[in-house]
Amino acid sequence: MRQALVLNGPNLGRLGRRQPEIYGATTYDELVALCQGWGRALGLEVEVRQTNHEGHLLDWLNAAADDATPVVLNAAAWTHYSYALYDACAQLTAPLVEVHLSDPAQRVEEFRHTSLVTPYAAAVVAGHGVEGYRLALEALVAS
Ligand code: DQA
Repeated sequence: MRQALVLNGPNLGRLGRRQPEIYGATTYDELVALCQGWGRALGLEVEVRQTNHEGHLLDWLNAAADDATPVVLNAAAWTHYSYALYDACAQLTAPLVEVHLSDPAQRVEEFRHTSLVTPYAAAVVAGHGVEGYRLALEALVAS
């Protein structure tokens, strides 16, 4: 089965407890199980990870570049300001799909309107809640 990574950045481990009016009631553990099931249905063996430590995400992206592993990425707040993340995305050798639970472009904070991931993403899925991860995995398979 083809491997794929679903990588999640800071604060996403608190999904379900974190501002549910914005991010929904599904917990992070539920998201992990959903992604694995959606992946299997698409012929993908999906590994889902989350970190609050930027270096961990960079290491995972560098390894994905070396191994040509496709990635679905919700980099959370790092999306908007991390040039190290931008550089790591630039090195990827297999498709990258950007996903967000909310639609950052529609939110009031100006800083959310910039994405340093989008320039390297084959597709962007935003504003569909956890369902967006299913759409992102589908986009990954299609790209
Ligand atoms: C987010 C949107 C980001 O602006 C925010 O910092 C997050 C989550 C989303 O999934 O909607 O942490 O990436």
